[in-house]
Amino acid sequence: MFDAELEKFRSALSGICDLKELEDIKRAYLGRTGMLNEIRKNTDMRGLDDAGRRQFGESFNSFKRAVESGIEAARVEFSVSLTGEAPLGFDPTLPSREFGLGAIHPISLTQLEVEDIFRGMGFQVVTGDEAVTEYENFDAVNVQGDHPARDMQDTFWLENGMVLRTHTSAMQNRAMKTLGVPLRAIFPGRCFRNEATDQTHENTFYQLEGMMIDEKINVAHLIGVMKELLDKVFQRDIKVRLRPGFFPFVEPGFELDFKTRIGNSERWMELMPCGMMHPEVLREGGVDPQKYSGFAFGLGLTRLAMLKYGIPDVRLFNKCDLRVNAQFTASV
Ligand code: FA5
Repeated sequence: MFDAELEKFRSALSGICDLKELEDIKRAYLGRTGMLNEIRKNTDMRGLDDAGRRQFGESFNSFKRAVESGIEAARVEFSVSLTGEAPLGFDPTLPSREFGLGAIHPISLTQLEVEDIFRGMGFQVVTGDEAVTEYENFDAVNVQGDHPARDMQDTFWLENGMVLRTHTSAMQNRAMKTLGVPLRAIFPGRCFRNEATDQTHENTFYQLEGMMIDEKINVAHLIGVMKELLDKVFQRDIKVRLRPGFFPFVEPGFELDFKTRIGNSERWMELMPCGMMHPEVLREGGVDPQKYSGFAFGLGLTRLAMLKYGIPDVRLFNKCDLRVNAQFTASV
């Protein structure tokens, strides 16, 4: 009976911007001279038979309840968004109506999986800072002020002289100094470079650094650990190869490729820069390079997530489009 009125009420309610407008609507509908009282006053009950009176009463009451609960729900929503606090009677543990439960971001899924694999090989997982000193990001890993390698990573500088880390290698020095040797650790986290974005480059992306330092660590250990990682991630026997690669903090340095199938053909795909830790880097971290050796690698976690889940464009990750996440089953 009051469908049109209810429709009008709902559309008025959806357009309000603040609590004052909500109060105005409340007065217009539920106030002494508001719409509901006017309807009651102007309806000639004597002109209705019993069935008509019952029908009117039921419709009127359900319209009134819908108006009251609509106003109450809007009041709760406004109070929460204004104060950040739930008003009395609001249960924050109820599931959200609009969005349902979330899903874990594909980069986090990949990170959790890789962390598990490394834990299985006796590595500890350490998180570092995203803002680090210039020394940690560059000098401590053998990239001094005038080193051309600094140009390879266009850096965001903070006003206090610190930098947003351009690579997780910024954690190497601190790890050696705080954890000591022998050391087996990985450091996953966000890195930042002032780069133009394209399908495979973002200005904010994830890397996962790994280090293993002990007496007599050599390239065979590096290959073994990397192969174990890739076999587990891709759940098959993965072929890897090393090519020479230059990074000032490793000697020798490599690019690790793995063999993958694209369409009908097999191809080597570049995945991970790595190498044996440079003696200067060990020394700078307080480790005696005569006694200890180690390897380090910098896995592009974002790129690994793209490969694993077949995501064609890295820019999808930071877009906050929930439809991307929703495709990755594991709910929180
Ligand atoms: C480094 O950052 C070295 N610190 C890696 C390293 C560590 C070498 C330890 C040796 C020993 P590179 O700049 O190539 O290297 O970056 C490593 C990986 O991070 C790349 O292979 C890629 O997967 C990822 N990466 C780099 N830049 C971007 C970017 N803009 N967007 C997404 N991923 C990126």
